[in-house]
Amino acid sequence: MKLKKGSMSALSIETRFCHEWVSSEALEKLSGELQRAHTLIRDKTGAGNDFLGWVDLPADYPADQLALIKECAARIKKQAQVLVVIGIGGSHLGGEAGLQFCRGQNYNALATDTPEIYFVGHNLSASAWQEVARIIGQRDFAINVISKSGTTLEPALCFGYFQDLAQKKYGTTAAEHIYVTTDKASGLMKQQADERGWTTLVVPDDIGGRYSAFSPVGALVWEVAGISLDTVLAGANQARQDLADMSLANPTWVYAGTRFLLGQQGKVMELYASYEPRLSLLGRWWQQLFGESEGKDGRGLYPATIDLTQDLHSLGQYIQQGQRLMLETTLALEQPVADQTIVLDPLAAAKWPYLHDQTISFVNDHAMRATIAAHAAGGVPNILLTLARADEWHLGYIMYFFELACALSAYLLGVNPFDQPGVNAYKDRMMQSLAG
Ligand code: PA5
Repeated sequence: MKLKKGSMSALSIETRFCHEWVSSEALEKLSGELQRAHTLIRDKTGAGNDFLGWVDLPADYPADQLALIKECAARIKKQAQVLVVIGIGGSHLGGEAGLQFCRGQNYNALATDTPEIYFVGHNLSASAWQEVARIIGQRDFAINVISKSGTTLEPALCFGYFQDLAQKKYGTTAAEHIYVTTDKASGLMKQQADERGWTTLVVPDDIGGRYSAFSPVGALVWEVAGISLDTVLAGANQARQDLADMSLANPTWVYAGTRFLLGQQGKVMELYASYEPRLSLLGRWWQQLFGESEGKDGRGLYPATIDLTQDLHSLGQYIQQGQRLMLETTLALEQPVADQTIVLDPLAAAKWPYLHDQTISFVNDHAMRATIAAHAAGGVPNILLTLARADEWHLGYIMYFFELACALSAYLLGVNPFDQPGVNAYKDRMMQSLAG
C-alpha cells in the first residue's frame, strides 16, 4: 500500500512476510479494536489524554515558538562554532536522530557553514563531557540544555559542567550563550533561566518527552544544522492528514495491528532494521518511543535495533537460528541517499560477473530482500516500511507515522502510552542512595 505526496509515494507498508502468522482476515477482525484505539486518540478520551498535544502540533505550531526557534538558531550560527546539546531520553533522541537522518552520521566532520553539534548529558560519564570540552578547545560555543521537568539529574550535572566552562570563557556575557528548553512555568531549570537571564524555549504542557521531537526540543538543533523546520512540519502535517483515515488503508493500522497480533502469538521482541547508516539513530528514537510507551503492566514488545548489513555478521546468527522470540520491522529507502557504480579489481570482477556495471544500492537492495526472506523462512516475520527518501519532509512524515502508530499500539494493548512510571524506580533508589 502506498500513500501519495502529490504524484510521489511517501511511505508504503508490506506485510507479505508476516502472512504465515497474520492473515488479512485476522487483521480485518482486529479493525474494530483499531478503530476504538484510534478514536481514543482522535476524541482525546483515552488514558493520558492530556498528553495529546503532538497530534495537531504540525498544523497548529505556536507562532511565537516558531519565530523564537529561528531567531535562536540564527544567533547560535553567528556566535558559535560548536553547539553543545544537553538532554536525555525524549529530550535528546529526536534531535540527534533527525540530524543524522537529514545530514548523515559524519555531520560534524562535514559541516562547513553551520556549527558542529555534540550531544551530551545522556549518561554520567565525565570523560564524555571532557572530550567535548577538548573538541571545543578555544572555539566559541553555545549550550542548548533540554529538560521538560528541569530536574533530571544527568542533564543537570552535565549542564553544570558546561555552564561553568561558559562562565570562565565569557564571564558576564555567558548568559548570551545559553539556551534552555523546558517547561513554560515550573521546574528548577525555568527558575534558573529566569534568574540568570537565559533564553528560554518552551516544551508544551500537553506533550511528553518522547513525543516532543517537533517541538523546540528537536527543532532548535535541526534549524541550527540548516534543517528547515517548516519543511519537517510540512511532512509531518501531510502524515497527520493521510493517517487520520479510520480504516485498514491506513498503514499505522496495519503496522500496529500486525505487531499486536504477532505479540499475541508469543513474539516478545521487535527489531528495527535499517540498511542505511543515517536511519540508525531514528531506530534509537523509535526504540525509546515504543519502549517507554508500551512496556508496562507486564505488556509490550521489547524494541531493539540492528544496523544492517553490519549486524548480519553478529546478531544475524541469533536472528536466523536463536530463540524464536522476535519480529523484524525493516525501514527502507526507495531512493538511496547516494549511489556508486561498483569498481572492482579484474580478479574480483571475474568472481562476481553479475556485478558488472551495477551499483552499491542494487546490491544493498538485494541484501535487504534476501535477508527479509531468510529471516521469515527462519521464523522471524517481517514488516517492510519503505520511505521515499531521507530528507527533511520525510523526516516529518516518518516520525509522525511512528508517533501515531505507537499511541495506537499502546491503546490496543490497554496501557497508557504517555506515562513512564517505571522510570522512577531507578531514580528513587539512586536519590536515596546518594542522600545516604
Ligand atoms: O519520554 C519521556 O518522557 C522521558 O524519556 C523524558 O524525556 C526523559 O526522562 C527526560 O526528562 P526531562 O526532559 O524532564 O529531563
